[in-house]
Formats: sequence, C-alpha cells, structure tokens
Amino acid sequence: MTQHRILVPGSIHPHVEERLNAAFDVVRITKADPVLMTDDLARSVQGIAVSGSLTTDFVEAFASLEIIANFGVGYDGIDARHAGEKNIVVTNTPDVLDEEVADTTIGLLLNTVRQYPQAQAYLRAGRWEKDGAFPLTPLSLRGRTVGMYGLGRIGQAIAKRLEGFSVSIAYHTRKPREDVTYTYYDSLEALAEAVDTLIAIVPKTDWTHKTINADILARLGSNGVLINVGRGWTVDEDALVDALKTGVIAAAGLDVFYDEPHVPQALIDLPNATLLPHVASASQDTRRAMANLVVDNLINWFEKGEALTPVPETPLKRSQIPTA
Ligand code: DGY
Repeated sequence: MTQHRILVPGSIHPHVEERLNAAFDVVRITKADPVLMTDDLARSVQGIAVSGSLTTDFVEAFASLEIIANFGVGYDGIDARHAGEKNIVVTNTPDVLDEEVADTTIGLLLNTVRQYPQAQAYLRAGRWEKDGAFPLTPLSLRGRTVGMYGLGRIGQAIAKRLEGFSVSIAYHTRKPREDVTYTYYDSLEALAEAVDTLIAIVPKTDWTHKTINADILARLGSNGVLINVGRGWTVDEDALVDALKTGVIAAAGLDVFYDEPHVPQALIDLPNATLLPHVASASQDTRRAMANLVVDNLINWFEKGEALTPVPETPLKRSQIPTA
C-alpha cells in the first residue's frame, strides 16, 4: 500500500499508534490546534486518527483530508455534518463496546441502589467487626420499572440484561422501534412519569442538551434513580444536585459528566450519588477492539475505497471524493 499520511493530534490508545506505524506514514502533533499547523501538514495529511475533539477550523486547514477516524462510539467532538460537506468521511467505533458498556451500566445501577461501594468501604474500615452489620439499604432493584432514555445498540444491550433482572422495561426514543416489545413513550416527560428508574444512553446532540432537568427528575419521584452512561451533556447537573439533596429523587449513578474530567464538588459530596470516571468501555480488551476498529477503518478506506463504520452524516465512498 502507498504510504498515506495520517495525523495523530494528541494522545491515542497505544495499539492505534502501533498499528498505524506499521501501515502508514504517521505524523504527530501534541494537540489539535491550528497554531501547530504547517504548510506541509496542511498539504499532505490524508487521514486523522483522533481521541477527542477537532474544531471545524482545524479540519478545514487540510487540503487533502479524506477521513477522520474517531476513537469512541460517541463522535460529538467532531462536527460530522461539516466534515460531510467537505467530503470528509468520519468513522466511529460502534458495536465493539456495546456489551462492555451494558455490563458497566448494570454494575452502576446495582451499586447505586444497593450501595455496594459504601458497604465495601464499611468493611475495609473495620466497621463490620466494630459496629455490626452494614445498614439495610433503603433502595432495591426489586419491583422497579426501568425507563430507557435511548434504545440504540447499547441501550438494547442494557435492556436485554435488565430482562434477566425481572424488572419492567419501557423506553423513549424519537420513533418507536418495531423490533422490541418494551412499552414506548413518545416523550421523555411521559417516560419519567411512568417509571422510577431512568437510564440515559443518548448521544450528545442539539436535542439532548440538559433534557434531564428539574421537571424530569420530579416526575421520577422520591423513589427515583437516575443512571447516566451516555453523555454528561444530557443532564442539568445543578438540578440533579438539588434533587438528590432535597429527596426529589433517591439516588443517581453517573459515569459521565458535563465538563469531564471535572466533577462538581457538590456531586462528590452527596452520599446518594455513585460516581465513576467515564469507565463504561474501559477494559483492556474492549479498548483494544476499539483501537483496532479505528485503524481498520483507515486501512479499508485507503485499500478498498470505503470505511467499515462511517457515521450516518458521512455515507461516502472514496471514489466519490473529488481529488484535490
Ligand atoms: C464512547 O465510545 O463514546 C464512550 O463514551 C467511551 O467510553
């Protein structure tokens, strides 16, 4: 294969680096900053492998850019519509992380309702022997009605697991799905009203910004539990802190935050918030599979003329791209 030039701005999974080095002419810059652009890069880079965000200005600086391979299923760090207008294909890493993220979601849900992290801390602090049994948890998964906010590939993998827990399952998406039998609600309001446990697994888009607000939390009710494994963007964190403090809802489990890696101290201080540092897909195997898909997309694009997993906004083939 001819040595196509791939840019890696900032850091990325080491297996991406390894495989890129074997297949491409790889150039690196410390971050995706137009200030670091040179004439040579602007002229020669044909692909970008990125874990993080790229501004439209940065993307526009490249005259021969054909493909942006994003490490992650969520590609909100890239303006895919803009890339499509510029005939640049954007790829993400769907499917390979679905089961891992679904596993994490169930773990987070159980930790949130049954307080296993707190129980472990109690034991490690020697309190079982000193003070007796850990207090009974006021919440349980038993008898819960779970509402899925989002039922894409990961949402369905979560729902499938929930079936095994004998809880009733409902969902809200923009359109009802024909391939599931869960109860559909045509608004998030109606779903929140009907359930006591809300699991958010929606992407960061114009339609999802702070959609989980004070009103939605009030509808969940005082036995309510919120789990978010999608994007922090979806939750009004001030409203959530308020709801957790005042008993509007009972507990929350969060793997994602509005301004990562910053987590508001007010959330950290709350005993009824179970918090994870965005680890839903973060096992070695799953991250390696994601890394492979980033590189396979680039190889397939340049060898076979199409990407393996282009995002819906950029359904392009290499033959459709005007040569620079
Ligand atoms: C993704 O791939 O977008 C996930 O959030 C990573 O855990």
